[in-house]
Amino acid sequence: MAERKLTLTDSESGKTLDLPVVSGTEGDPTIDISRLHPELGLFTFDPGYGATASCKSDITYIDGGEGILRYRGYPIEQLAEKSSFLEVAYLLLYGELPKDTEFARFERDITYHTMVHERINSFMDGFHYDAHPMAILSGVVASMAGFYHDKLDVNDPEQRDLAAKRLIAKMPTIAAAAYRHSMGWPNAYPSNSLNYSERFLHMMFSVPAENYEVNPVAAKALDLLFILHADHEQNASTSTVRLVGSTGANPYACTAAGIAALWGPAHGGANEAVLNMLNQIGDVSRVGEFVKKAKDKNDPFRLMGFGHRVYKNFDPRATIIRKACHEVLDELGIKDPLLDLAMELEKIALEDDYFVQRKLYPNVDFYSGIIYKALGIPTSMFTAMFAIGRTVGWVSQWLEQSATPHRIGRPRQVYTGAAERDYVSIDQR
Ligand code: SDX
Repeated sequence: MAERKLTLTDSESGKTLDLPVVSGTEGDPTIDISRLHPELGLFTFDPGYGATASCKSDITYIDGGEGILRYRGYPIEQLAEKSSFLEVAYLLLYGELPKDTEFARFERDITYHTMVHERINSFMDGFHYDAHPMAILSGVVASMAGFYHDKLDVNDPEQRDLAAKRLIAKMPTIAAAAYRHSMGWPNAYPSNSLNYSERFLHMMFSVPAENYEVNPVAAKALDLLFILHADHEQNASTSTVRLVGSTGANPYACTAAGIAALWGPAHGGANEAVLNMLNQIGDVSRVGEFVKKAKDKNDPFRLMGFGHRVYKNFDPRATIIRKACHEVLDELGIKDPLLDLAMELEKIALEDDYFVQRKLYPNVDFYSGIIYKALGIPTSMFTAMFAIGRTVGWVSQWLEQSATPHRIGRPRQVYTGAAERDYVSIDQR
């Protein structure tokens, strides 16, 4: 079959150019514009990169219209039901589900990298007690380059793999330490006898004064949330990790940049913003007032946890989390009026023309906070929870980019500033 192409004609120069159309395994075809500037002297303009593919990737596929999310070809619904976070981590990192011996070795590697250098704990002491956990996470992760400087050769596959495992293993340890710092509690060290999610809950909530038993319902719910947050193709924080990685920066600097990007309320910070919004609404009787604010162009208020750049249908993760909300709260015997409020808010919004026309549906952040709250995790830690799961996606995408030939990322611009002009001395101005 003849190669598909797009033929452009420049009305000014009369020149025409055939641009190849590139298709992947699935998804919308893309136009390879690499010859556009050399041949026609033209750049493309796509603020927010809404229609621009920044890379080729084998890791995650999303179909926004159909509400599809697959990790290495496996539907998120199947992984959520049948897999575990650490098995999903292996899948995202290496492309295949592990055999039992492969998984055992991977789990042992992660387990034995969960501790952080003791100096990192004293570094953490420098933060004010009420520092936001994401400020601590980004600062401490960036500092890790200072502790592992002997293994930072990004051109060495073994050192890349070690850094990836260190980041996956230590993120929960650092996040839990940030929480304990805010509580004024002594540090809790990782327990190798527990699995990934159990170990995190133990590090978060155990206190020296008494024995702490991990609730299996809570650990299972957390493992599910980590799976659902693990990767999401070229979102803002992952694109940040790739851009920083394209300069050859070390993986800790790349991941710290990803954490910073995730913190924004338009991105991973939305889960914290949703809980704050639900508490602000307070009662079902006020839902209409806030939906009205969300529709008012003169009001900066947005319905947090609603809308998505790619999903113009239900975010499949939101569907899974909404179902899990009911199951977890029932199993824990918790009645949370905020869940009823969220359900009512969703119902009213999805019947409102403004949201229907703009295809604004609940996204991954809309319900996740309800479960975190039920597990006793404070709102300020919600985005740090997102970061723990997404670390797997960040390092998987960083490994993929690092292992393939790539150029430094360097977008162009449309310059709209002053034309050339001469300097005027201050006495002439
Ligand atoms: C995540 O990219 C990813 O994959 C991200 C993520 C991941 O896993 O990595 O899925 C995680 O970040 C989920 C999104 C979490 N953010 C929020 O919930 C914050 C609230 N949502 C929005 O700010 C917004 O929907 C975005 C940022 C998510 C998407 O923004 P877009 O794609 O730039 O959409 P837009 O701002 O151009 O909005 C289109 C229209 C606008 O109205 P009009 O100008 O057409 O009249 O929809 C409106 C917007 O005003 N709109 C909203 C809205 N979201 C969009 N109006 C009210 N409330 C909202 N939440």
